[in-house]
Parts: sequence; structure tokens; C-alpha cells
Amino acid sequence: MAAVAMTTWQENMAVEAAAETRPAWADYFNDEMIDFWLGEVLWNQDMAKFTSYGVGGCAEAIIWPASVRELSLLLKGIRRLNIPWRLVGGGSNILVADEGLKGITLIFGKRFATIEVVGEKDGLVDVRVEAGCSLARLVNWCAEQGLSGLEFAAGIPGSVGGALVMNAGAWGGDISQVIRSITVMDEYGECCDKEAGQLHYGYRSWGEDAGLIAVAGVFGLQRGDKAAIKEKCRKVVAARMKQQPQEASCGSFFKNPPQGRSAGELIELAGLKGKRLGGAMVSEKHGNFLINTGSATAHDLVRLMHLVQSTVNEKFGVLLEPEVRLLGFAGGN
Ligand code: EPU
Repeated sequence: MAAVAMTTWQENMAVEAAAETRPAWADYFNDEMIDFWLGEVLWNQDMAKFTSYGVGGCAEAIIWPASVRELSLLLKGIRRLNIPWRLVGGGSNILVADEGLKGITLIFGKRFATIEVVGEKDGLVDVRVEAGCSLARLVNWCAEQGLSGLEFAAGIPGSVGGALVMNAGAWGGDISQVIRSITVMDEYGECCDKEAGQLHYGYRSWGEDAGLIAVAGVFGLQRGDKAAIKEKCRKVVAARMKQQPQEASCGSFFKNPPQGRSAGELIELAGLKGKRLGGAMVSEKHGNFLINTGSATAHDLVRLMHLVQSTVNEKFGVLLEPEVRLLGFAGGN
């Protein structure tokens, strides 16, 4: 098909539109970044594409660092320029505000996802995995290698980095049970290794400062029977499919309270299953899943979150704490 030439006024409008999509600091950043970043910067990106919820406004800028060194240089540079930033993983446990994300959003992607065996003794195998690797890829890789220990994680979405920080878990297993050490980076771009004994893992938490980033983890796995490992993973995925909804969500929305009934049970007993606000709905299948029926905005989901919290609190005196991280909302990052 022949290209249609743009008239001058169309060209001008296109240039203006592109300029409008960039934040005020973009030119300044472009001039300065040569000192610390030679890769791509994607401006004005729809975060719905990068989250399992499929909602949220635009990130002003996205950068994908592909190594510890690149991340370190970036953090130092971004700090020097005083631009706000945050790191997101696989996007499966975050809810991004409709207003979007200011500053720079760093994402570890497929280019920062190496899996390697770093030690083996008496059938115990240490596997180092970079944070951008998806948990699904790691679980599949382990099954193919006949390595046991991560079967509980079959079907959990998200990245290894997110799983390390959230202490992802299911079916009685969680990351803290298999982790041997984590390479962490602070907000100044400095890195160090922390042994499992130095970490303060708890329920859905690694117990470290919010500013700390997990850049890689060493998992302690055991040699096992490949067919048995695959079968266990298959069963775990089947159980998940049976009990949990498949619509767009961020998994369990709230943490389970420290004692007593689970969040899902409380929400069901409060009569909230099927409750709908805009395009957001409490799943009929599992009360702790606030799903996007297709047309939800982040605002709908947050209103539903507040409604669930206040109803459960009134009926049972329990304030449910979100497990999902809210980004771009007032008071958040
Ligand atoms: N329940 C209800 N009504 C519901 C949902 C659950 O009564 O609508 C009851 C169940 O019958 C059960 C109890 O609540 O007695 C717990 O439910 P379930 O077994 O589904 O586990 P959960 O505590 O809701 C946790 C994790 C899930 C993980 C499952 C399976 C949290 C917040 N959630 O769910 O993790 O897949 O166990 O092990 O810890 C996630 O973190 O995103 C996630 C999906």
C-alpha cells in the first residue's frame, strides 16, 4: 500500500501530540542520561499492558535494566537528577492508579532472567535466578531438570523478584522454605548478598526495608524424579484452577488475618460475593479475589476494596490489609 504523505499541519499536530505525551523533565533527562544509561526509554506507556489486572494509567517513562550493573548505574543517575522512580516485577500483585505513574518505572524483564546451577552436593542443588525471570518459567525449568522444591509455586503468576519480596506461597509452601540467599540492592545502587539466616521472612513479607530491591535469589532444591515433580505441578495448577477465578485479578487481594477466619471466608460470610462496583466485582468463586470484569478502572477496584474493608470490619471487627500493592495513589509510590 502506498504511503500517504502528511501535510505540514498534520506533521505539526503529530509532533505536538508526541511532545505532549512526554513529561516536563524528559528533555533534561535525555540530555543527562548519557552518563548512566545508553538503552531505550519508553515514554508514556499504558500500565494496563504490564499488569495482570489490565487497568491503570500511563507510566511517564519505562526502562528495562538488564543487569545488576545497569540497575546500579541507573539508580545512581536517577537519584542525582532527583526524578521519582519505582521498580515493578511481573505486574501480578500491583494495582496502578488511573492517573498513572510519575517519574521512571523500572521493570526487570526477560533480559534479566538467567537461571544457572551454582552448586551441587549430595543431591542438593543451588540454583541462582535473576529477578526478571517469571516464576512460571522457573517452575517449568525445575521440572524439566528434575529439581524438586518449587512445585507449590506452579501457577503463581509474577516474577521471581516479586516472589522473593512478597514471600509468595501456596499449599503450605512459600519462598522462605527454599531460599538460601538473596542479592539485594539499596536505593543508592549498592549491592550485597544476604544469607537466608539474615532475612526476616514472614507471611507474605521478606521483612526488609521497602526501599530494598531483590535482584537475584539462590534456591536450594533437591534432585528428584522428573515425572513425579511434573505430576505434582499439574495437581497444584489443577487445584488452583478449581478454587480460584480465572478472570483478570491480582490473586488474593487481602492478606489473611493473623488468626481466625481467612479473608475469603470473612468476605463470603459478609455477603459480598458477586458485589459489583463499576467494572470491579468480588468473585463469586472466591471471596478474596476482586476481579476486573473487563471494564474496571483502578478507581472501581479501590472503591470495592474500601467497601469490602468497611463491611468486613463492621460485621467481624477485622480490618483486612491489602496484599496487593497500590501504586500511584496519594500517599503511595
Ligand atoms: N473460603 C471461603 N469462601 C471463599 C474463599 C475461601 O469460605 O470465598 C474458605 C475456604 O473454604 C478455606 C479458607 O477460606 O477454608 C481458605 O481458602 P483457600 O484455601 O482458598 O486459601 P486462601 O487462604 O484464600 C491462600 C493464598 C493463595 C493461595 C491459596 C492456596 C493468601 C492471601 N492467599 O488463599 O495465594 O493460592 O492459599 O494455598 O495467603 C495469592 O497470594 O495471591 C494467592 C492466590
